[in-house]
Amino acid sequence: MITPNDLLLHRAQRLLLLKKTIHSLPNINCDSSELLNLEIGCGHGHWLTSFAEIAKERKFIGIDLITKRIAKANQKVSKRLLKNISFLKAEATEFLTALPLNILLQDCFVMYPDPWPKNRHHKRRLINQSFLDLLAENCTNTSKLYFMTDHLDYFRWSKQTISNSKHWNITSGQWPHVETSYFQNLLPKNTFLVADRLY
Ligand SMILES: C[S@@+](CC[C@H](N)C(=O)[O-])C[C@H]1O[C@@H](n2cnc3c(N)ncnc32)[C@H](O)[C@@H]1O
Repeated sequence: MITPNDLLLHRAQRLLLLKKTIHSLPNINCDSSELLNLEIGCGHGHWLTSFAEIAKERKFIGIDLITKRIAKANQKVSKRLLKNISFLKAEATEFLTALPLNILLQDCFVMYPDPWPKNRHHKRRLINQSFLDLLAENCTNTSKLYFMTDHLDYFRWSKQTISNSKHWNITSGQWPHVETSYFQNLLPKNTFLVADRLY
């Protein structure tokens, strides 16, 4: 039987491994202060690689839970010979916990996150207060959170949750890079919001 202690131990082991992997990423120098643009739930990396191709001055990292999606995303990086982007298999809160203190997020993007439509599953939604607190800890005073979904109920939930956060302020703003993500191609009708890190 798996005990709560086993779960904690496994998480600690995953975090240790994640820290080592982050240190080995080719586009991040963990010995200096760096600004990163993070996409959470990047899927096959279609949108983020397209952004990285035109914004060479920025550094990008995409994370996703699914190994095959990360492998496909990394193939795009190799094929296009991009030096400013990498993809990593990681869970969002674990990634933010494992990120070295000197690496801060310039902007964070969430496109078409899993909506978890059933009431009893709402607690699994990415956007919640503890996630927003953790994200804020890894941001600068000019960082922005960009959030896009086709799911109206999840959009309203996120807007309310972000409005209740002491760290984030919903603002007017445009989506920073126009290119459809994989899910956006399938479900083009969407709503988005932009939030500023509040200090
Ligand atoms: C509906 S897909 C959207 C993929 C992509 N953003 C797009 O628009 O095509 C949601 C993705 O988020 C990933 N995901 C879900 N929860 C996550 C988490 N906590 N951390 C990292 N990735 C997550 C899933 O594995 C999935 O690939």
